[in-house]
Amino acid sequence: MIPSRNTPARDLLDFYAETGVDALLGESPVDRFASTEPAEPAARSVQPVTPAADLNSVARAAPAAPPAPDEAVMQARSVAKNAKTLDELRAILDRFEGCALKSTASQLVFADGNPEARLMLVGEAPGREEDIEGLPFVGRSGKLLDRMLAAIGLDRTSVYIANIVPWRPPGNRTPTPQESQICLPFILRQIELADPDILVCLGGPSAQTLLGIREGITKTRGRWFAFETGKREIRAMPTFHPAFLLRSPLQKRFAWRDFLAIKEALDQR
Ligand code: URA
Repeated sequence: MIPSRNTPARDLLDFYAETGVDALLGESPVDRFASTEPAEPAARSVQPVTPAADLNSVARAAPAAPPAPDEAVMQARSVAKNAKTLDELRAILDRFEGCALKSTASQLVFADGNPEARLMLVGEAPGREEDIEGLPFVGRSGKLLDRMLAAIGLDRTSVYIANIVPWRPPGNRTPTPQESQICLPFILRQIELADPDILVCLGGPSAQTLLGIREGITKTRGRWFAFETGKREIRAMPTFHPAFLLRSPLQKRFAWRDFLAIKEALDQR
């Protein structure tokens, strides 16, 4: 039930929505307004506990903490290279506990489209709709991406789509550099296994992470870069992220140029 307007509960929900908190982490709601129990007096809250009992209760209460970022990157590198197929990679990623985003996301968003396609597009991270459906680019920016692909005669049967980070960051925030670095070995292996002829980086963060460049997307979009997949060198192009194009429709003309260049490159073989 949605609380009626001008109540503290409704104000709190509105505040959450405005700050990007749009997903619940618990199974059942907690009524914070109902918890009116007075705080325990300080003297009574100090319970004598044996160190062992204390540790046991902590171990029961807290889920295993993810490893430190450097350790997580090393784990990711070591397990990602074990994958011999994309299905194996998906299963390995699903078991990987090194990225804290997994615990707040509803599910893994691995890929969509045709893994045999000659064109692979890589975005940044799933949003709310992607998290619900378990597929990349199914929300508003995904619909625009579909229209851009259709304009050059492509659809999800002729492209393969994934993200740098396969779990939704809470409130659609930008993934931290650490989160991207932890997930990088997986997307690199995914590219190697899919073995596309052409890679398109959707948006600056994708281009910077995959191509190791520092320049922003306005400078790099539309340029071809060499990308070493591990099997061979392919061509890679950064272009504007569809979410950016929704906010800045005038920039669509540049994205259109990029997509024509991508089509031309695909037609060359
Ligand atoms: N934006 C992305 O970068 N990826 C998605 O899957 C959806 C939106």
